[in-house]
Amino acid sequence: MQQQSSLLSKYNIPGPRYTSYPTVPYWESDDFTCKQWTRSFQQAFAETTDEEGISLYVHLPYCESLCTFCGCNKRITKNHGVETPYISTVLKEWDLYVARLPKKPVIKEIHLGGGTPTFFSPVSLQWLIIGILSKAHKHPKASFSFEGHPNNTSYEHLKTLRELGFNRVSYGIQDFDPIVQEAIHRHQTFDKVKQVTEWSGQLGYTSINYDLVYGLPFQTSNSIIDTIEKVKELKPDRIAFYSYAHVPWIKGNGQRKFSEADLPKDDEKRALYELGRDMLLDIGLVEIGMDHFATKQDELYESSINGQLHRNFMGYTASSTKLLIGLGVSSISDSWYGFAQNHKDIETYQESVESGFLPVFRGHMLNQEDLIIRQHILDLMCRFSTTLLEAQMPYRSILERLAEPLQDELIELSGDNVHITEKGRAFIRNICMAFDKRLWRKQPETQLFSSTI
Ligand SMILES: C[S@@+](CC[C@H](N)C(=O)[O-])C[C@H]1O[C@@H](n2cnc3c(N)ncnc32)[C@H](O)[C@@H]1O
Ligand code: SF4
Repeated sequence: MQQQSSLLSKYNIPGPRYTSYPTVPYWESDDFTCKQWTRSFQQAFAETTDEEGISLYVHLPYCESLCTFCGCNKRITKNHGVETPYISTVLKEWDLYVARLPKKPVIKEIHLGGGTPTFFSPVSLQWLIIGILSKAHKHPKASFSFEGHPNNTSYEHLKTLRELGFNRVSYGIQDFDPIVQEAIHRHQTFDKVKQVTEWSGQLGYTSINYDLVYGLPFQTSNSIIDTIEKVKELKPDRIAFYSYAHVPWIKGNGQRKFSEADLPKDDEKRALYELGRDMLLDIGLVEIGMDHFATKQDELYESSINGQLHRNFMGYTASSTKLLIGLGVSSISDSWYGFAQNHKDIETYQESVESGFLPVFRGHMLNQEDLIIRQHILDLMCRFSTTLLEAQMPYRSILERLAEPLQDELIELSGDNVHITEKGRAFIRNICMAFDKRLWRKQPETQLFSSTI
């Protein structure tokens, strides 16, 4: 059996995280028009029953302080005067969508992401949610979630959002080690995290997630052990244990405050993941999809067992709707048949909405082959297996590309079924790349993706 380190050196190459297929750099945006996008979301809406409902993602981009590892779309400011104009624009954008739908939508899911949603005051968030719901029906089984920064999530935030129907919260933790926190300019104490976790439980949030990251500068096995020991004490329901994506070329993410020499090397990084994973399994969490863990009581686990697990731009979700509308700067919408992304710059986004236009600047309409490949990649990411059908293109080329992972025992083939082995889970992004026809056809000329491991 090949040693893990030689597999790592072979497979640790730049590759997509597959939160969509086609991946964003491969969208055919030149052929994309706002009119097409409108027809596409109208079609998805027409095919959606009230029982299924639709999902909303709202991007709230502001943060008070820059974390120097962060790859998200954010704007750093201490000026809270930005809250009112921003929410007013998001509500106008929502009006633009509602005006293009034949009837009031039923909202099944809302997720507030960022940036830092808890940068906004509870009153601003209340205005946002009430404004959205005033133009829609709330699904009887609606599930609403938000991302909270432990340092600025107040009891009032949690109470207000809980009263508006929020039942899940995700806290960014990353790592508790003070040396790592200093390097990534992200300081937060265990006591603060403990407090927001306890408040969330007391107020009736049914699922509390922590984001942890491995592969951060100066991170060692001791930092992972200490971080997960602390996590164990607080008993979250879910963990997203992300691989640090080193993407210093993304404009404005400020990642240059530490050097690449301070990052764990490939095999050290993988060892940090495996150490963390073993500790998380020891405390009773179950590994779900790529880099995600949940207790057996959490609905994410339930959905992974009954085949409902889904993956989109927000990561893994317990259920899916055909139509996901992304509101706010840089948000991505998904109608299953097409994707559309909003302007990434706040001022351009606001100008577009204020002029009465849907603020999308690029997108992609999926062709038949994209739809087939999209489903394969989703199946691999959510169920670790997929079934190839000979009649479907591009069957032969995929098989050829799977020959090496098969030889390395990363997958098993039984009939037409491709199954990712336990050993292959570390290389799931590489296995998906064997299905990514758009990537084979044209390798990126500059580095666009983080490394797969
Ligand atoms: C928008 S942030 C979370 C909310 C809030 N801003 C906070 O930091 O607590 C979403 C998550 O993305 C993850 N993240 C951000 N940049 C990353 C990177 N370069 N590599 C891996 N994960 C990253 C972090 O775990 C972070 O908690
Ligand atoms: S990690 Fe969260 S708080 Fe830090 S800069 Fe990124 S979005 Fe903002």
